[in-house]
Amino acid sequence: MRIAVTRKIPEAGLALLAEEAEVLVWPKSLPPNRDELIAFAAGADGLLTLLTERVDGEVLDALPTVRAVSNMAVGYDNIDVEAATTRGVVVCITPDVLTETTADFTFALLLAVARRVKPAADAVLRGEWKTWEPLGFLGQDVYGATLGIVGMGRIGQAVARRARGFAMTILYTDHERRLELEEELGARFVNLEQLVRESDVVSLHVPLTSETRQMIGAEQLRLMKRSAILINTARGGVIDTEALADALESGTIWAAGLDVTDPEPLPPDHRLLRLPNVLVTPHIASASEATRARMARLAAENLLAALRGERPPRSLNWEAARGRAHP
Ligand code: GLV
Repeated sequence: MRIAVTRKIPEAGLALLAEEAEVLVWPKSLPPNRDELIAFAAGADGLLTLLTERVDGEVLDALPTVRAVSNMAVGYDNIDVEAATTRGVVVCITPDVLTETTADFTFALLLAVARRVKPAADAVLRGEWKTWEPLGFLGQDVYGATLGIVGMGRIGQAVARRARGFAMTILYTDHERRLELEEELGARFVNLEQLVRESDVVSLHVPLTSETRQMIGAEQLRLMKRSAILINTARGGVIDTEALADALESGTIWAAGLDVTDPEPLPPDHRLLRLPNVLVTPHIASASEATRARMARLAAENLLAALRGERPPRSLNWEAARGRAHP
């Protein structure tokens, strides 16, 4: 059995794969582009991919020996699941293991942006800390603020649980009401328009789909409070980047914390990076040592199970894909 892994991943996953397969690891620090991926993975039975690789019908047609694709991520907008299913290719992801770590980071970004941690720390490094300033680096309170959660899935819920400790009023919007959670989390269901109008902090936790693409655009930003903070740890494409840059520049909203951007990576000369009220991190919300090891292990378990013909722990299309004869 041959498995192609598109980057070096934590040893916990590689060791598991090596027990049952010949493992090829993409040796460079930057991901393979489409042609490189096809050349690298030629003849492999399974692919262990990251969110940086686009796997669609064309790639799968060029790799006809591949029977399973295991994405080391909870998001899977980089994979055309329908194209995989019709070709009998099993697709797997790594949910749950990263939920709490991602929610932790959402709060890290929120607190850092609200309390202006980065500009204040940068000023210290520049030697500008001369005295205690009554008017220096004034931020926004998080404790007791109203938090609007867009997408009350696993990560949205984990963020809401943390928000209760900060005595936040919790609003949420989703494609359906989640009555059982409303009581547990003390959250109120509203539509997106109400959510952006009423929230002090808007935090995004939806997958990137055709419905959520640019769901936060000029219109939603205009409805937000001028003191509002926007946090994105989901996918960059959920926000209209240019509209956000305009809103931050003109003071339509107060600040943003972005762990994901569109495009990604953000070019170093991008206008967003010139704004003092934006904090951008390089898509690291799940990046704790323990969580990345858990993700690697689950991605490996998924892939090995699929290649053995067994039900993987977390597959998106196991039933449907195995119903198709693989060429
Ligand atoms: C990271 O963004 C993931 O989807 O796991």
